[in-house]
Amino acid sequence: MLVASGLVKHYGGVTALDGVGITLDAGEVHALVGENGAGKSTLVKIMSGVVRPEGGTVELDGAPVRFADARQAAAQGVAIVSQELMTYDDLTVLENLFPYGAPRRGGLVSTREMRRLAGPVLAELGLDPPPHARVGELPLADRQLLEISRALLQEPRVLILDEPTSALPRDAAARLAAVTRRLAERGLAVLYISHFLEEVMRVATRVTVLRDGRVVLAGEPVADVGLDSLVTAMLGQPARHPAPAAAAPRRPGGAAVALTGVTVPGRLGEVSLTAAGGEIVGVAGLQGSGHLAVLDVVCGRARPSSGSVRLPGGRSPRSARHAVTQGVAYISGDRKGRGLMVDKTLWENITSVSWLGQGRGGLMPRRSGLVDRSRGRLERLRVRGDVHARASNLSGGNQQKVVFAKWLDADPAVLALDDPTRGVDVGARSEVHDIVRGLAAEGKVVFIASSDLAELVELCHRVVVLQHGRIVGTLDGDRLTEPELSLAMNAGFAEPPKPSGGG
Ligand SMILES: Nc1ncnc2c1ncn2[C@@H]1O[C@H](COP(=O)(O)OP(=O)(O)OP(=O)(O)O)[C@@H](O)[C@H]1O
Ligand SMILES: [Mg+2]
Repeated sequence: MLVASGLVKHYGGVTALDGVGITLDAGEVHALVGENGAGKSTLVKIMSGVVRPEGGTVELDGAPVRFADARQAAAQGVAIVSQELMTYDDLTVLENLFPYGAPRRGGLVSTREMRRLAGPVLAELGLDPPPHARVGELPLADRQLLEISRALLQEPRVLILDEPTSALPRDAAARLAAVTRRLAERGLAVLYISHFLEEVMRVATRVTVLRDGRVVLAGEPVADVGLDSLVTAMLGQPARHPAPAAAAPRRPGGAAVALTGVTVPGRLGEVSLTAAGGEIVGVAGLQGSGHLAVLDVVCGRARPSSGSVRLPGGRSPRSARHAVTQGVAYISGDRKGRGLMVDKTLWENITSVSWLGQGRGGLMPRRSGLVDRSRGRLERLRVRGDVHARASNLSGGNQQKVVFAKWLDADPAVLALDDPTRGVDVGARSEVHDIVRGLAAEGKVVFIASSDLAELVELCHRVVVLQHGRIVGTLDGDRLTEPELSLAMNAGFAEPPKPSGGG
């Protein structure tokens, strides 16, 4: 249905695509995978007309197409959900769903008609936002689902999803997978980009792998490609298996972070929790359970109305900025607006926070020193990009690695991580995990929330589970597994079984 062939695209000296082709057939979910910077989003942007290739063609039903923009693509039945979300944050949910013209009745925009059309699509994806809420106020996962709903409302024949589940909790990701398969059964052609390879194996019928701007595996049936050979194709070498958290050295006893009876109206009720230096503590819960509020009070983004938060230095965070000066790093997967200055160079981004902590009167470090230091950090995280490049020129996953590098540079005492590896490829993900384990081993305190439960299970020493703003239990040791965690988040903890003398 949609066929791209021989696509070539350079950005300055960088070859993003070097003769890439892919065929999307009606009725299939075709997965596209590859490391950060492999060229996946560039391919999508060319298909949707946002980026012009220097060579190659895109054909729809045998006729060459060159869309001027996403709107023209939509008019011809090609809907795209891009990796960096394109929601209009100041508009309402309903307004966001109909960007190319709202349905009208008698010449007037009809809210009722909008709701009638949107209702079933939102319901299928399990999204139930207040229709007149400003989209900027919604959680990242909801914004992601909203953008997918918008694409579906265009009733496309070709649907392109660039990392649609990178911020979705597991239940929402599962619903989206089911919807995606149903759409393919109805005859849509779906292109599905994801770094969650197990998810790819479940959802897709065929898979294409890009490495360094070239196709290294072309449209093989997923059933014929095992997970291991998929990873090998992506990385060009077999993956190394991550060490489980239990094996990580643990030296608790360093300065702790202590929450005592912390209440944040509407979000947290009398939460007490202490994390020692050296500990990696997960906070888990369904959306609205308050688990993210725990991170927010630690990093000064929310102030308790009662109770106290004590940081390792003995102070309480007074504001987000004050928390930074007290050594708290907040790393979020919601990098748009939170953490990256896209118009600045990589080295300026990376060295930007370490300044805040130093206060005034410190000696101005030499620029060449800062650049060298930044380069080292980029190499460690395997970022594909020059220290002097602007952050906006990086692929999504590489941008996320820069956010991480920036906070490492500040040498924090406490890390508050919220989906820190969102959009990061499997290789770099384990690198980030190693770094987090290393920081804990040095005695830092780590709090982490993640929509990816596997990440919590792999990394954490223990995970506290919240419901309705309260801690309902803790999982650690043998009980810290994905099924147990999922169960606890959804259903809470049953009373521990009483020992019984038989009978
Ligand atoms: N606007 C741009 N200016 C300069 N270089 C760019 C630009 N957009 C992309 N690139 C470069 O092109 C290459 C491919 O990027 P692309 O975004 O397609 O990767 P990707 O496979 O989508 O990665 P990710 O998994 O991180 O999203 C990268 O090296 C990237 O830095
Ligand atoms: Mg991308």
